[in-house]
Amino acid sequence: MPGPREVVPFTVNGDAVAPAVSPHTTLLEALREDLSLTGSKQGCDKGDCGACTVLLDGVPVLACLTLAVEVRGRRVTTIEGLAKGPKLDPIQEAFDACGALQCGFCQSGMMVSARALLDRNPRPSRREIEEALSGNLCRCTGYTKILEAVQVASGQCRPGEGALLTGLDPGAPPPSLASGGGEGSQGPGDPREEPLFPARAGGRGEGGTRAGGVAESDR
Ligand code: FES
Ligand code: FES
Repeated sequence: MPGPREVVPFTVNGDAVAPAVSPHTTLLEALREDLSLTGSKQGCDKGDCGACTVLLDGVPVLACLTLAVEVRGRRVTTIEGLAKGPKLDPIQEAFDACGALQCGFCQSGMMVSARALLDRNPRPSRREIEEALSGNLCRCTGYTKILEAVQVASGQCRPGEGALLTGLDPGAPPPSLASGGGEGSQGPGDPREEPLFPARAGGRGEGGTRAGGVAESDR
């Protein structure tokens, strides 16, 4: 016999929704099963992989660790909400242009995390990109193309020019867009660019807030 259910109103990608959920239904289950928004993936279901990452009031959270009842009255953005009608988000276009995916299972969580980063920091350094994506696991790509895609989306390089080629400090001139590249570039051996990837285990904060995200108390 089904247990008690509660109607929980919130917005998803700008639309008002009100699924009837049980007290233990996760946000990921509500999105995928009640609202048919299957772009957010169920990977580990325990907070380790980041495939379920969505934005809650603009902050990346792990939907598998967030209860649906916790989002009452709040604003949820999923991968389905990044595009504006037929126009893809620049981060989606950059992932495509850079070939930053193979099986694609990690991709929605990666792109949602990257979108949150660029919203708060339009020109992140490579280290800042690594920090922001450190809770998102990819078993296929080796991460280089993913880093490059974020650099491309932020206008700091073109496809094929980013990731291991430059440090891309905030405010620095685009390495090749401005000068043809080369000068000032930091190679892969530069100690300032010691990679954080592969992603650290447990790249999540208290209450499902993602590493690199901004806690509600900080907003
Ligand atoms: S499904 Fe792996 S962190 Fe949520
Ligand atoms: S592309 Fe397969 S897990 Fe990232």
